[in-house]
Amino acid sequence: MDVKNVTVLGAGTMGRGIAQASAMAGCSVVLYDIKQEFVDGGIAGISKILGKSVEKGKRTQEEVDGIMGRIKKSIDLAEAVKDADFVVEAVPENLDLKKKVFADLDKLCKPAAILASNTSVLPVTAIASATQRPSKVIGTHFFNPAAVMKLVEVITPIGVAEETVQITMDFCKKIGKVPVKCKDTPGFIVNALLGSFYQIAAQMVMDGVATAEDIDTAMKLGANHPMGPCELADFGGFDIIANGSDEMFKYTSGKSGQLCLLYRKMIEAGRLGRKNGKGFYDYLPDGTKKPFKLF
Ligand SMILES: NC(=O)c1ccc[n+]([C@@H]2O[C@H](COP(=O)([O-])OP(=O)(O)OC[C@H]3O[C@@H](n4cnc5c(N)ncnc54)[C@H](O)[C@@H]3O)[C@@H](O)[C@H]2O)c1
Repeated sequence: MDVKNVTVLGAGTMGRGIAQASAMAGCSVVLYDIKQEFVDGGIAGISKILGKSVEKGKRTQEEVDGIMGRIKKSIDLAEAVKDADFVVEAVPENLDLKKKVFADLDKLCKPAAILASNTSVLPVTAIASATQRPSKVIGTHFFNPAAVMKLVEVITPIGVAEETVQITMDFCKKIGKVPVKCKDTPGFIVNALLGSFYQIAAQMVMDGVATAEDIDTAMKLGANHPMGPCELADFGGFDIIANGSDEMFKYTSGKSGQLCLLYRKMIEAGRLGRKNGKGFYDYLPDGTKKPFKLF
């Protein structure tokens, strides 16, 4: 199946980026959320990013109008998914919520439709079990910002059909991504590895081994990483890291996912990372950042 009609559930950070990437590749997209203001916010966000690309001369206004014209808004789930070949769910990271959404999708989508979850760490096999079509349920783990980042981890739960995997790989390539297959294991590839990276870096800061800034400099210049672990943790958001770690901890029976206490303390102090301008660094209105003195 060549995926033409895509529905994205959730117009937040990830959903809007996935919708944008799909529309840029020529798919007809429906962006669904539970409230009109959320969908409007998603569309406004996409429009703003594309508007900037016109200012920078990367696209013409005509191209942008074409992309925006391919994205419809919806707050009616049945209407939003009725023609979908491929549904990408990007609702908040909560297993009960995702299972409920997939049970609804199973009833509302056409039988051939593939249902994909953008979960970061939750078990896709458990999400698939909420449907009567586990062979057509898969994980597509996009990265933030989803319209730009090339990687998609294609998560293959127990019971998924080979055809579903192939269609998903082809869809990812169609929208300009590089898909890699991964079994349904806690944290998949990237978050399983990054999780340890975040924890060790924060522990080093807590232990006074080095400052966050020096740890970042060391990894950028010594390991050729484009961002250091503390900068990356700020970018990802401490609440997201904590949630991901806690899920990993649960699903690995404590073998991995032990969250460094520093993240809990930062969250308690209202420091969530770049999203609220306060993380290992303070992000200033002029676009610069300066290290936050933790101790
Ligand atoms: N933010 C990231 O960096 C990132 C990266 C990769 C994967 N993810 C995963 O993507 C998913 C979404 O994350 P996000 O950061 O975009 O969250 P977000 O909070 O920015 O957006 C979630 C959106 O879902 C909407 N929503 C809530 N209930 C819904 C429902 N029943 N149906 C449809 N929409 C509903 C919310 O109104 C909100 O607009 C999560 O599973 C997250 O773990 C996030």
